[in-house]
Amino acid sequence: MYVVLIGRPGVGKGTQAQRLCAELGLARIATGEMLRETIRSGGEDNQKIAASIDGGNLAADDVIMKLVKDRLSKPGFENSCLFDGVPRTVAQAEALDELLWRRNAKIDVAVEISADTDELVGRLLERAKIEKRRDDNLEAIHRRMDIFTRRTEPILEYYQERGVLRSVDGLGTRDEVFGRIRNCIEVR
Ligand code: AP5
Ligand code: MG
Repeated sequence: MYVVLIGRPGVGKGTQAQRLCAELGLARIATGEMLRETIRSGGEDNQKIAASIDGGNLAADDVIMKLVKDRLSKPGFENSCLFDGVPRTVAQAEALDELLWRRNAKIDVAVEISADTDELVGRLLERAKIEKRRDDNLEAIHRRMDIFTRRTEPILEYYQERGVLRSVDGLGTRDEVFGRIRNCIEVR
């Protein structure tokens, strides 16, 4: 089973992905976390990635798809994966379909989690006090929101056309949101 979680920064993709994977036994790919790990490992190329994501801009599609391809080829990803934060562009959605097609699989469900931007900015500024993520400042947060609208929202139509899009409300307690997403995922 291959599942995509789509939603604005702060909507709860990471929070829900961890629990879904733990409870449903799905493997997980979270490209934001992978990029932050890559940056921590140092190197000149990685400084370019850091400059881009710290300011709230997207990393290049080819960088992302290489990370995804490498990770998908690892043990544990043969039959399932929950994608947190990828795809984020139509080009990534197409490339991911191609990767899955090669292994005779497809995205079974893409879950859009939505919430009002003001609530999300508030959540991210709260998180900034604790986690110190370099892109959790007001300027980068606004850029991330804007990029979601321009670059990521078009993938909703992409999955809608393929009949796999489901949408849930991301407001409410973590448990409530979990229940809504869980209802969209039919484990076979
Ligand atoms: P990424 O790490 O994916 O960040 P993001 O999409 O901006 O989302 P966040 O991780 O900030 O939020 P989330 O939805 O996971 O919410 P969370 O559960 O943490 O990507 C970072 C950057 O990497 C991107 O900007 C881009 O530059 C680059 N990148 C990544 N993937 C890429 C790709 N595919 N292509 C190109 N570039 C890419 O929750 C947020 C906060 O709210 C937490 O504190 C949480 O505890 C709290 N919270 C969660 N649920 C609730 C609730 N129900 N009620 C109240 N609070 C809640
Ligand atoms: Mg996250």
